[in-house]
Amino acid sequence: MERMLVVGAGTMGAQIAMVCALAGHDTTVTDLTDDALARAESSLRSRLDRDVAKGRRTRDDVDDAFARLTFTTDLVGTASTADLVIEAAVEKLDVKREVFARLDKLAPPHAILTTNSSAIMSSQLADATGRPDRVANMHFFNPALVMRCVEVLGTDEATVEAVVDLARRLGKEPVVLHKEIPGFVANRILGAASDEAIFLLEQGVASVEDIDAACRTALGYPMGPFELMDLTGIDIGYHAKLARHAVTGDPRDLPSRTVTELVERGDLGRKTGKGFYSYEDER
Ligand SMILES: NC(=O)c1ccc[n+]([C@@H]2O[C@H](COP(=O)([O-])OP(=O)(O)OC[C@H]3O[C@@H](n4cnc5c(N)ncnc54)[C@H](O)[C@@H]3O)[C@@H](O)[C@H]2O)c1
Repeated sequence: MERMLVVGAGTMGAQIAMVCALAGHDTTVTDLTDDALARAESSLRSRLDRDVAKGRRTRDDVDDAFARLTFTTDLVGTASTADLVIEAAVEKLDVKREVFARLDKLAPPHAILTTNSSAIMSSQLADATGRPDRVANMHFFNPALVMRCVEVLGTDEATVEAVVDLARRLGKEPVVLHKEIPGFVANRILGAASDEAIFLLEQGVASVEDIDAACRTALGYPMGPFELMDLTGIDIGYHAKLARHAVTGDPRDLPSRTVTELVERGDLGRKTGKGFYSYEDER
């Protein structure tokens, strides 16, 4: 597996493409517009310049990686030579199914088509292609240049093995799921901690501040669940829960009363100046 194609140059796609290029792969990253690609390249350049300045990478490694990385809107011209595709386009099932159907027509028959989706499972995309056994989830974490975990999920053993092997060669630590489950592993555990924190709050057991403090000081979490929900955006977790409930129908997958109230009030965390905490002073 030599040539990588990353579809979507947003928050995840740009960094995933750079992870591949840094590991020595000829990599192409595509998006819908030149503007999106220019933003991706400029954010990668400033991030990697910072890494060089801090001594985390050498200038030569970074220059070599950029030389292996192509930014283009021409999906047709590039998919035909890809050995493995990582789709990191917007989190919409219809968009992803359309991308997979197109990739299936354009990519060589041996190519593996993966999605970086956090919620959409490969079985929801596999039947949009004529190669369902070569479709898999390859789920990186944000920021992809830093986080080591990659969750891998697929129905065909050889495909899963190939993706696991690639993840290792990218310097990541693959985690293999033996069956499909919405949310996969890491985000389910994260979600369970958040749910329990909200349960304790709703029961009046302890304050937001003290529950976060317990997680930091007793469990060694870098930040408490409420701080993290405020940072990622309370609406993100809310919509993820609704999406999970739509698949499972399990009432435990519905968003909590507290989170629903915050979303309805527009208190979405740091980005709106208020969530579980207030950030008005920082603003
Ligand atoms: N942001 C995260 O923390 C995170 C973490 C892990 C996984 N993911 C997953 O990664 C994927 C991308 O998320 P993101 O945060 O990078 O989104 P983003 O909105 O930052 O980027 C998505 C990019 O895809 C492009 N795009 C949309 N339709 C396209 C198409 N048909 N062809 C090519 N490009 C297209 C958009 O122009 C945009 O640049 C999602 O599936 C998400 O679930 C996100």
